[in-house]
Amino acid sequence: MSEVVFAPSILSADFGCLVEEIESVDEVAGSIHVDVMDGHFVPNITIGPLVSNSLKGSDRVNCPLSIHLMIDDPWKYGPEFVVDSEDVIIFHSEATDRPFELIERLSGLGCKVGLSQKPASPVEEIFPLLEELDEVLVMGVEPGFGGQEFSPEAIERIEVLDERIRENGYDTDISVDGGMSSSTVGSVVRAGADKIVAGSAIFGKEDRIQAVRDMKKALP
Ligand code: DX5
Ligand code: ZN
Repeated sequence: MSEVVFAPSILSADFGCLVEEIESVDEVAGSIHVDVMDGHFVPNITIGPLVSNSLKGSDRVNCPLSIHLMIDDPWKYGPEFVVDSEDVIIFHSEATDRPFELIERLSGLGCKVGLSQKPASPVEEIFPLLEELDEVLVMGVEPGFGGQEFSPEAIERIEVLDERIRENGYDTDISVDGGMSSSTVGSVVRAGADKIVAGSAIFGKEDRIQAVRDMKKALP
């Protein structure tokens, strides 16, 4: 298995000094996870293209961005994000009834494209899209807030997706977002996850580098 990648989620960082916060995890971050929430799709509001694009333009931010759109209108706002070929924009299946076209639209920005689902949505609806996707983001919690407890039902979803991806030889990564910590990363990686998104387990700790090292130690 190739090395598991960690994506610190800035949802749990200090938004008053985001660049410094991102620098504090640079050494261990494969990408920086940017949670975009509109107060409609989820009951919380965070940041949008203005802030994300400033981070992207900063010469102090070296990691690719993984932009997680938890918004009602990914068609309108997705294309407003400045991205390059290393970044990924992830939309939710519940936010569009034309997922194939949206994948195409976002790919046209020159970035990778990912898909996520709320925990109640059927995993089968992702199957026909898998071949077109660079990443599937499995939610370990109900999206909207950091610091929630991991819901183990996500494990089966990861296993099902992993089997499907392997069977068909697709080049699609599985990420897990929500409730990730030293006590939960092992089970999701065993189930087939390639990438771990973690907010409170990294930014909630004094020593963020050590926090990621501890999670790496807990991997199978
Ligand atoms: C939740 C967000 C997550 C969040 C995870 O809706 O999508 O990215 O930052 O937070 P933790 O790691 O604290 O569960
Ligand atoms: Zn997220």
